[in-house]
Amino acid sequence: MRQNIEERLRSLGTDTIDLLQLHTWTRAWNRNPQPFALLRTLQKEGKIRAIGVSTPEHDQNSVIDLMRGGWVDSVQVIYNLFEQEPAAELLPVAQETGTAIIVRVAFDEGVLTGKFKEDTTFPDGDFRQRYFQGDRIRRAVQRAAAIEPDLVGTGLTLPEAALKFALAHPAVSTVIPGMRRVSQADANCSVSEKPNLTDVQLKRLQRHRWNRGLWYPGK
Ligand SMILES: NC(=O)c1ccc[n+]([C@@H]2O[C@H](COP(=O)([O-])OP(=O)(O)OC[C@H]3O[C@@H](n4cnc5c(N)ncnc54)[C@H](OP(=O)(O)O)[C@@H]3O)[C@@H](O)[C@H]2O)c1
Repeated sequence: MRQNIEERLRSLGTDTIDLLQLHTWTRAWNRNPQPFALLRTLQKEGKIRAIGVSTPEHDQNSVIDLMRGGWVDSVQVIYNLFEQEPAAELLPVAQETGTAIIVRVAFDEGVLTGKFKEDTTFPDGDFRQRYFQGDRIRRAVQRAAAIEPDLVGTGLTLPEAALKFALAHPAVSTVIPGMRRVSQADANCSVSEKPNLTDVQLKRLQRHRWNRGLWYPGK
C-alpha cells in the first residue's frame, strides 16, 4: 500500500492526497484493520489528509466497527429513497463518532430520476443491464412512480427530491450523484438552491423504503 500510494502521489503530481478511500471492506477484517493502521501512519507523514472507506453493498454495516474504533475519517455509503437501512445504525454512529458521510447511488442507478420506463433496456456493457435484469426494472419504475404524489407541495422534481432526501440526514456531509452530461451536473448542483424538505415531507418520503436484498449479482 505504501508503494501504491507513493506511485499515486507521483502520478497526481502532488505531495498530499486529500481523501484516500479504500474501495471496499469485509467484516472479517475488523478484528485486525491493518490497512488503516498503515494509512494512519501515512497520514501522520502528511501524505494523506483524510482516510475513508466505501461500504461493500452486501454488508454496509460492516464498517460500523471501523467508525467506533476511530480508524476512518469518512464513509461512502449507499443511502437513498429506497435504501434507508443506513439510517438505523450506520448514520447515527457516524454522528456519534464525527465520521463524515459521503452518500453514493442517491438515484439508485438512475431509476430515482424518474426517467426510466418499465420497458427501458440498457446497451451491452452497461452494468445496469444486470442491475435491472428480469422484472426489476418494472418493479423499480413502479416504486419510483409511487413517490411522485408525495412530492406535491415540495417544489422539487423527483431527482431533486432524491438528492435532498440523501442530504437531509444530519450525518450526511455530501452526496456524489453520477453525472455523465453537463446538463446533469448543472441540474444536480442547482439543488443546493432549492428549498429543503420539511420534517413532514421527509416522514412521507421515508415510507418509500424498500428492503429488497442485494441487487448487484455478479459484480
Ligand atoms: N464505491 C463503490 O463501490 C461505488 C459503487 C457505485 C458507485 N460509486 C460512485 O458513486 C457515485 C454515484 O454512483 P452511480 O453513478 O453509479 O449512481 P447514481 O448516482 O444513483 O446514478 C447516476 C445516473 O443517474 C443519471 N442522472 C444523474 N443526474 C441526473 C439528472 N439530473 N437527471 C436525470 N438523470 C440523471 C445518469 O444516468 P444516465 O447515465 O442514464 O444518463 C447517471 O448515470 C459515482 O461517483 C460512483 O463513482 C461507488
